[in-house]
Amino acid sequence: MKNSTRVNHPPSAPLPADNHAVVAPIYQTVKFEFETVEETLRALRGERAGYFYTRSSNPTTRQLELTLARLQGREDCVVCASGVGVVAQTLLSLTKQGDHVLGFIESYGPSRQLLRRTLGKFGVTHTLLSIEDVEGIEQLLAQRATRLVLFESPTNPVNKIADIAAISRSAHAHGALAVLDNTFAGLHQHGAFDVDIYLHSLTKFASGHGDVMGGAAIANEPLIRGLRPDFTLLGGVLDPHAAYLIQRGLKTYFVRYRAQSASAQRVAEYLAEHPAVERTRYPGLPGSPEHALARAQMSDFGAIVTFDLRGGAEAGRRFAEALRLFAMTASLGATESLVMPPQMLGGRDFSAEQQRLAAIGSGTVRLSIGLEDTDDLLEDIQQALAAAAGA
Ligand SMILES: Cc1ncc(COP(=O)(O)O)c(C=O)c1O
Repeated sequence: MKNSTRVNHPPSAPLPADNHAVVAPIYQTVKFEFETVEETLRALRGERAGYFYTRSSNPTTRQLELTLARLQGREDCVVCASGVGVVAQTLLSLTKQGDHVLGFIESYGPSRQLLRRTLGKFGVTHTLLSIEDVEGIEQLLAQRATRLVLFESPTNPVNKIADIAAISRSAHAHGALAVLDNTFAGLHQHGAFDVDIYLHSLTKFASGHGDVMGGAAIANEPLIRGLRPDFTLLGGVLDPHAAYLIQRGLKTYFVRYRAQSASAQRVAEYLAEHPAVERTRYPGLPGSPEHALARAQMSDFGAIVTFDLRGGAEAGRRFAEALRLFAMTASLGATESLVMPPQMLGGRDFSAEQQRLAAIGSGTVRLSIGLEDTDDLLEDIQQALAAAAGA
């Protein structure tokens, strides 16, 4: 055998059957083969176990899917390349021309854009209500045949809390699927509710380190069986190396989520008392309108603290620029703290009434609290608030 052949057919170095890698290897391969045509065809027909092509499945991404399904308390999961990818692929898979979807004003901007721009192109209509309008939700679903309800809790960016039991109940009473983007609450929360499909951006708390993107849909087996062929065809596949990094991040998920929640709680309490702050939105803040519902639904309140500066947009800009420990950028749930000033928060596509319900004001700032020492973060926030006030 010539060397040019040998490098393309390297020797295998299999592990003995009784000898296991403690950390599963990354199957960084696009293709898998069987010995015979018949076994290949049996695998493709789903008559035997095995892998063929990574766009359909891969042992590294499959290990991640099984882990995520168990964390969220459902039977199965399908992963893809980003959080927005999983929202898009799920919506495209579940809807057809003539269907109607219920979405919410207080939702992640690109999810609303997917409803309007992408689904709209294919004749799928939608209505946007306020997540707090539980009666309106019930009325709309009673009046209008609806394929699915897509909602978040807490909502991005202002941390409103959805009444998950009421919304799921209304959805099911009228034949709609309850699809919860559970990115903010994380994989360990809301599993006891009668939600059909949980969506997650794995870019956030799951991976945790801000170095990899991913998305997941988690549900019972029949729903995932329905989604998987469309995910394979739409092709936003999660690379095995990214799956490995997310699996690795999950090992510290609980420690991170709880430490970040505890730190966010202190930051929220500090901001709530500060004279320059008009309103602080954090589900763990006692006395806040969302606290009772949040406490009934959640065990940890998350890392996102949103607040309104009395000084408006200019104060928000000065505050964000004065912070030293917070990166001024998108995303959330990573180990480093992040800030989004009012100028970078969405909602510019809203009518005046929708703008009011969205609660993104001229001085609204969103923080994502990382794993830095909380005292250091508070000191930084204190000096930035002083800078924002022109002190
Ligand atoms: C609630 C929510 N859903 C989905 C996404 C999209 O995730 P990704 O950035 O991984 O595409 C985000 C991102 O911020 C989000 O906050």
